Amino acid sequence: MKNILCIGAGYVGGPTMAVIADRCPDLTVTVVDINAVRIAAWNSDELPIYEPGLDEVVKRCRGRNLFYSTDIPKAIREADLIFVSVNTPTKTFGAGAGKAADLQYLEKTARSIIEHAESDKIVVEKSTLPVRTAQAMSRILHSNTKNLKFQILSNPEFLAEGTAIRDLENPDRVLIGGMETPEGQGAIEALASIYARWVPRERIITTNLWSSELTKLVSNALLAQRVSSVNSISALCEKTEANIDEVTGAAGKDSRIGPKFLKASIGFGGSCFKKDILNLVYLCGHYGLPEVADYWEQVIKMNDFQARRFVGNMLAAMFNTVADKKIAIFGFAFKADTGDTRESPACAVCLQLLEEHARLNIHDPKALGNAKLDLEGVAGDISYLEDPYEAAKGVHAIAVVTEWKSFRELDYQRIYDSMEKPAFLFDGRNILDHKMLFEIGFNVYPIGKRKLTHF
Ligand code: NAD
Ligand code: UGA
Repeated sequence: MKNILCIGAGYVGGPTMAVIADRCPDLTVTVVDINAVRIAAWNSDELPIYEPGLDEVVKRCRGRNLFYSTDIPKAIREADLIFVSVNTPTKTFGAGAGKAADLQYLEKTARSIIEHAESDKIVVEKSTLPVRTAQAMSRILHSNTKNLKFQILSNPEFLAEGTAIRDLENPDRVLIGGMETPEGQGAIEALASIYARWVPRERIITTNLWSSELTKLVSNALLAQRVSSVNSISALCEKTEANIDEVTGAAGKDSRIGPKFLKASIGFGGSCFKKDILNLVYLCGHYGLPEVADYWEQVIKMNDFQARRFVGNMLAAMFNTVADKKIAIFGFAFKADTGDTRESPACAVCLQLLEEHARLNIHDPKALGNAKLDLEGVAGDISYLEDPYEAAKGVHAIAVVTEWKSFRELDYQRIYDSMEKPAFLFDGRNILDHKMLFEIGFNVYPIGKRKLTHF
């Protein structure tokens, strides 16, 4: 095992292969993509994604044993093991539209492997896929006319954006699923021995293919379900004067519940939670389990409700109209420490405010470029500002929608002085010091906590 290839140079393929190259200097790791602009960016000083710690790892390995390339045929010919890390979005057309995974990119990758391969290979599903995709993958790969043999493995990725390098260097677990045959077990061991260079063996879990594929969907569904559960209770807290941070703080002390992933918010975003739950919902329907499908679909409905509820609270507080009022939006990324805006709840909030004819000043430390692309062609008065003080100047309200640490460090007296009065602040992430803001003069509306107003 000398040459490792990854097809797909995105948020997963890029950082994952950089860490493998860093930890395995004796392996040659190549990452290819059909998107030449992306590959050029991976080869430049301005990497295509913002991820803390990524620049350093790439700089250490690039040109040594880490290569980004568009020469897919050559890379396939030379590879012993191929990770497939292409996008698997929700289907937007035909059967299963709006729920099922669109597997066209995966299938094209498999066809490109059989077109260019000249030797047997291990093919690893790194993308998140519906359970039993490996069966289809195997059938496509074995339709080759060169009598080549492929072992298919499932090795889903559990990194979270913003902490990707930390997650890859010190994962809770690595999951590898393979066929229950001697060849399948051999392929599992070949991949496990790569991770074992830096991951303790007891954290490398091996299962059959179908358990591995399904575990990825279930892990994301369970995480998203926790956020929706907490957000549903935040609505009840606002009606009853209970405090969501006190409730989750106390509930999370139970070691069976645990303290992590219980932060109330305007809702979860990101490219995967919604898509993977929709995929799970589709699979349950496909296998004749409508009750199970309905159960998981509710997690998404609750998430949509939370963003709508946030905007509804803004409207109600601001005398039932935001038409022609300027509002500063602090944050557009779907979470802190990333420039990624895919499925960001910030976007849903902005679209609803624009429908109400609000005028928006959007500020984000890393996501303004993507924000502009997301809102391209959307009607309304939208400005994008690098400086948070400029973004807040003359506005009626500030909505904090991403939990960037820098938002905590701003001079809110200066901001208050520059705003229209009464000044409103809606903290969709509960990250600011609400009492201090209230004392400055703001009318403060947290999530799942009593509002602090001067009326
Ligand atoms: P992405 O869109 O950032 O990257 C996918 C890349 O694949 C793109 O650059 C695209 O051009 C390329 N591609 C598509 N078809 C190709 C082909 N035929 N040949 C070569 N390249 C091709 O997606 P991502 O966020 O990296 O996600 C990839 C997969 O990993 C998805 O299945 C996703 O669900 C899963 N995943 C994502 C994350 C995350 O944090 N983003 C975490 C875990 C798992
Ligand atoms: C998530 C999972 O955490 C990863 O394990 C998984 O690999 C990845 O999806 C994937 O498959 O793509 P990610 O979406 O990058 O990672 O980020 P998270 O930290 O999970 O946050 C997701 C969303 O939930 C964000 O919008 C975040 O703000 C929100 N969230 C998270 C909350 O609102 N409250 C919380 O307590 C935690």
